[in-house]
Amino acid sequence: MKALIAVLGGDGIGPDVVAQAVRVLGATARHFGHEFELAPALFGGAAIDAHGDGLPPATLDLCKRADGVLLGAIGGPKWSAPDAKARPETALLRLRRELGVYANLRPVAVHPALRDASTIKADVLDGVDLLFVRELTGGIYFGEKRRTATDATDVCTYTVAEIERVTRVAGTLARARRKRVTSIDKSNVLETSRLWRSVVERVIATEFPDIALEHMLVDAAAMHLIRRPREFDVLLTENMFGDILTDEASMLAGSLGVLPSAALGDGSRGLYEPIHGSAPDIAGRGIANPIGTILSAALLLRHSLGLDTEARAIERAVSEALEAGARTADIAGPGVPVMTTGGMGEEILKRLRA
Ligand code: IPM
Ligand code: MN
Repeated sequence: MKALIAVLGGDGIGPDVVAQAVRVLGATARHFGHEFELAPALFGGAAIDAHGDGLPPATLDLCKRADGVLLGAIGGPKWSAPDAKARPETALLRLRRELGVYANLRPVAVHPALRDASTIKADVLDGVDLLFVRELTGGIYFGEKRRTATDATDVCTYTVAEIERVTRVAGTLARARRKRVTSIDKSNVLETSRLWRSVVERVIATEFPDIALEHMLVDAAAMHLIRRPREFDVLLTENMFGDILTDEASMLAGSLGVLPSAALGDGSRGLYEPIHGSAPDIAGRGIANPIGTILSAALLLRHSLGLDTEARAIERAVSEALEAGARTADIAGPGVPVMTTGGMGEEILKRLRA
C-alpha cells in the first residue's frame, strides 16, 4: 500500500529516537512491499526557533494530509521561561486539537525480560497488561487560562459529548481484551468528575452491557496501580489524571522510554508518540531509548493503516531484541553493557529482517 506519514522529530532526544523509528518503518515497507512516504516537518521548539511558531501552517497542513503522524518529543529549558511567548507544549496541544485526536491509548505491559528493570518488586509485575484510554482534547488543558498579578486560573470543563465518545473507545477496546473498565475520577470533589462518572456509567450500561465497569477515585487509583497492577485492564481517565497516572504506570514497565502511545479521533488518521518527554539532559548524547517511538510506529501501522501483521512484526523484533539482552542505559541493570540509541535500533532492525 501507499501511505503518507508525517514525521515530526521535535526537540531534545526527539530527533534521535524518531530516526530509529524511521529506519524501522523503511525496513518494514521494503519487507512487506509497501510505499511509505516519510515526510519530515519542523515542530515544537525547533519550529519556534525557525518560524516563531511551534506549529507552522506548513507542518499542520502536512499532518492533516497525512495518513498518520509520528512524533518524537517537544520542549526544553530554552523555551520554558515563565513569560515565554511561544511554547512547544502549546503547539502540541494545538496539534492534538486540530487533528481531533481525543482518545489517547497508552498500553503498559511488563516485558518479562525487563522484570528486574522496574523499581517495583518483580512478583507484583508478572502478568501486568494495562491499557490507559486518556481523554486528550478537553479538560483543564484546554479551558480558559487567566493570570493577574495576584492570582491565576485554569478552567476545567467537560461536555457530555466529549465524555461519551472517549467512553465508547474504552468500551470497544475493552471488548477485545478482558472486558473490564476502571473509570478514574475525583467525583468526591470535582463537578466535572461527577458528570464524568454519570456519563461513563450510562454509556457502558446501555451500549456495553458485557463490560464490567468500576469507578475509582484518582488518589486511590494511584495507590492501587503499584499495589495490585495486574487487576486492571482498561483504565479510562480525563486528560490530566491520565497524564499523571501514565507516567506512574510506566515504572511498572521499567522505563518511560519503552512506552508508546496512539492518539485517535473519529477517522483513521492518528498521532503517535512515545509517552516520554524530550529529556534535554541527555539530548544529543545518543543514549536515549528508541523503543517507545519504534513501538509507536507499530501502533501507527496498526491503527491508521490497518497493517496488523506489520505492526506485530515490529513488536516481535523489539521483544526479541530485549530477550537477547539489548539494553539502553535506562533499562540496563548495574554492570550490564549499555548500547546507544542507534545500536538498539540496529538490534531491532536485525530481527525485523530475519
Ligand atoms: C504527554 C506530555 C504532554 C501532556 C505535555 C508535553 C504537554 O506530558 O504527552 O504526556 O501533558 O500531555
Ligand atoms: Mn505526560
